[in-house]
Amino acid sequence: MAHSFEGMISLGSDENIVVVQELHKAYSLGNTVVRALNGVSLNLKRGEFLIVMGPSGSGKSTLVNMIGGIDKPDSGLVRVDFGENHVIRLNELSPKELTRFRRQNVGFVFQFYSLIPTLTAGENVELAAELIDLRSSEIKERTREVLEAVGLGDRLDSFPSQLSGGERQRVALARALVKRPKLLIVDEPTGQLDEKTGHEMVQLIRSTSEQFGSTVVMVTHDVSLKKYGDRVIHLSSGQIIKEENKT
Ligand SMILES: Nc1ncnc2c1ncn2[C@@H]1O[C@H](COP(=O)(O)OP(=O)(O)OP(=O)(O)O)[C@@H](O)[C@H]1O
Ligand SMILES: [Mg+2]
Repeated sequence: MAHSFEGMISLGSDENIVVVQELHKAYSLGNTVVRALNGVSLNLKRGEFLIVMGPSGSGKSTLVNMIGGIDKPDSGLVRVDFGENHVIRLNELSPKELTRFRRQNVGFVFQFYSLIPTLTAGENVELAAELIDLRSSEIKERTREVLEAVGLGDRLDSFPSQLSGGERQRVALARALVKRPKLLIVDEPTGQLDEKTGHEMVQLIRSTSEQFGSTVVMVTHDVSLKKYGDRVIHLSSGQIIKEENKT
C-alpha cells in the first residue's frame, strides 16, 4: 500500500501554514456586546488560496485580521508554522513581537488601497520594502520586479492620483508582495472596482501570489469570485456555517 502511505505523508500536519482553533472575540459598544467571532476553527494549507465569504458583520475582517496578527482574540489559538521548526503562537506574542511578525511575514491588501498620496507608485512599494532589512540595491530591484509583475513596470513614477482604481489596487498588491510575505491577507480587494477589473485583480492576486510564494486568505462579498479560490468558507454571526472545496 505504498500509495496510501504517500498520501498520509502529504497530508501531514506540517502542510498547514496556519492553524486556527476556537477563536472567540467580542467587542463591547456601550452596554451591548457584539460577538464578532464565536468559536472559529480552520486550517490553512501552505500555498492555498482561501476565500472567506459571508454577510456584512459576520466577522470576516475580524477573522483575517487575527490570522494576520493585526488583532488578538479573547480566547482561542492562532498558530503559524513556517516549517523547519519555526512555529509561532500569535497569542503568546507581545504587541511589539506581533508587529515584527506582521512586518516580516504578512502582506495586506485592503479595499481602499491606502497608498500614500504624496509618494509615487515606486516609492510606495519601496517604503514597504524598507521595513524589512534589505540592501538599497535589492529594494530597487524588487520594487521594479514586483511592479512589473502587476503590469505597472512603466508607472513607477506615477502618483496614486494619476492612476485608475484598478491600477492603484495593483500598486497596493505590489506593495504587499515586495517583501515576499509568507501570508497574503486580502480584504475586499474589488469593492471599489467594476466587475471586469475586479476579476482581473483577483486573477492577478492568484498568479502573483504563486509567483512570490504567498499563501492567500481573501475576503469577498462577490459570489462570482469564488471560482478563483481553492477553498471557500462561509461565515455567519461569527461562525463557519459552510465550507466548499474545489476538487
Ligand atoms: N473595533 C471594533 N469595535 C466594535 N465592534 C467591532 C469592531 N470591529 C468589528 N466590530 C463588530 O464585529 C462584527 C464583525 O465585524 P467584521 O468587521 O469582522 O465584519 P465583516 O464580516 O468584515 O463585515 P463587512 O463585510 O461589512 O466588512 C460587527 O458587528 C462589527 O460591528
Ligand atoms: Mg470586513
